[in-house]
Amino acid sequence: MNIKELFPDNIPERFRKYLPVEQREYLINGEIHDWKEMNQEVFSPICLRKGNGIERVRIGSYPMMTARESEMALDAALKAYNNGLGEWPTMGVEKRIEFILEFVRRMKEKREEVSALLMLEIGKSLKDSYKEFDRTVEYILDTVDALKELDRTASRFVISQGILAQIRRAPLGVVLCMGPYNYPLNETFTTLIPALIMGNTVIFKPPKNGVLLHRPFLKIFADVFPKGVVNTLYGDGKEIITPLMKSGKIDVLAFIGSSKVADILKKAHTRPHRLRCVLGLEAKNVAIVLKNTEMVNTVKESVLGSLSFNGQRCTALKIFFVHRDIAEEFLKLFSKEIKKLKVGMPYEEDVFITPFCELSQIEYFKSLTDDAIKHGAKIINENGGDSEATIFYPALLCPVNNKMRIYSEEQFGPVIPVVPYDDISEPIDYVVNSNYGQQLSIFGNDENEIARLVDPLVNQVCRVNINSQCQRGPDIFPFTGRKDSAEGTLSVSDALRVFSIRTLVAAKETEENKQIIRNILRKRKSSFLNTDYIL
Ligand code: G3H
Repeated sequence: MNIKELFPDNIPERFRKYLPVEQREYLINGEIHDWKEMNQEVFSPICLRKGNGIERVRIGSYPMMTARESEMALDAALKAYNNGLGEWPTMGVEKRIEFILEFVRRMKEKREEVSALLMLEIGKSLKDSYKEFDRTVEYILDTVDALKELDRTASRFVISQGILAQIRRAPLGVVLCMGPYNYPLNETFTTLIPALIMGNTVIFKPPKNGVLLHRPFLKIFADVFPKGVVNTLYGDGKEIITPLMKSGKIDVLAFIGSSKVADILKKAHTRPHRLRCVLGLEAKNVAIVLKNTEMVNTVKESVLGSLSFNGQRCTALKIFFVHRDIAEEFLKLFSKEIKKLKVGMPYEEDVFITPFCELSQIEYFKSLTDDAIKHGAKIINENGGDSEATIFYPALLCPVNNKMRIYSEEQFGPVIPVVPYDDISEPIDYVVNSNYGQQLSIFGNDENEIARLVDPLVNQVCRVNINSQCQRGPDIFPFTGRKDSAEGTLSVSDALRVFSIRTLVAAKETEENKQIIRNILRKRKSSFLNTDYIL
């Protein structure tokens, strides 16, 4: 395979028309400001053939903001929250829902542009970029439904031991949302939207790769929400995020990225007990392939699990323990399936393997394969590990052992380690001793064997998948992890809880108190104390 030839001479016009995106705007305190200082240039994972060489394509730039703007963003978010007295946090749920629905209505108009930018910026296939957009819209609508449901349960009074109370969920304050580059839209909005809808004010910083696609939303945020409710920051985390944490005024950190960065951010906060964290961190999800398994489905799910979006998913299957008796057959079929995957530019029909954002990623994958080879592994598949510019062809490695970095490091890419095992205790010990505990997959067709594994393994990870790859969705399922993999649980309904706290109004059940409450309810004097049933 000549990888060089996969790069085009130019980006097709239907996507080029969105370029370049020279973003100068940022949103703080309801105002779209014009940035006049330093910018960060953005290059697409898509490269172009130029003569004998290959060149990265510059697709735009965005503001490299400073500590001054982070202070402004924080002030705006604090002012809009106003210690819980602001318009947004005191607004009734039904009204807040209207704002979110208006946002989503206008967001949908940007589907083409945002999906194209997502594809151009991070190299996700166009089909998956649309999927990410649609999944996000659906997530927001499901969030609205979940909040209505939550509010309906809270619309009644609870009476116990002579005390009557109305219990609701209230916002927490200022939320800092930071999403990852692999799902820059979806995973940012799965924290941003629940945080907003629960009445918090938000500062959001998109990931380094994955900024420009958010630009079309700036005006919508500014038009739809009261000022200061949504504020944006772009640039280097050390410069703009550290001061926010040091201020001690961030109430919730919603961060999806590495545990190293999460630790730095948490430690920088000067009032740690006031900080709530919702973190989605690394994972090294294990596939256990039992001796008796339906091989075609096992390999199909293994390919999807390890190579969807080139393996750049926190939920990806990142190490395979395969029973030694079937390892050869597994590797043969896996190699055959890899060969069928189309490699190319993200806008091509049926493309599966696409280019990466950073050349350093390619170097990293190479170093992992070199290290594995040095310690006795072989690249099993044809062309495995070949690379050119931003493309790295998947490398299936076997036999992998604990001396190799790939055995324990999260590769976040298309390097697939296979460990042949003789005894089931080997994969179990791996899972028990791993620093991570997100999910795993068991492939097999013996119900007794599977049942014996399920019971201990559910206490090691947070989702055990049977004959299926690991994944986050459906989004109503709880998504979390143990050990260094996560803090807090996300799902459509869990996210509403994460970004709020239960608070109640209670009164002794005297006639006077009942009359006061009755009057507040009848005369609709409070947003909190009310028994309206949202339809
Ligand atoms: O990167 C981690 C994502 O949450 C994975 O989501 O399993 O739907 O691809 P997914």
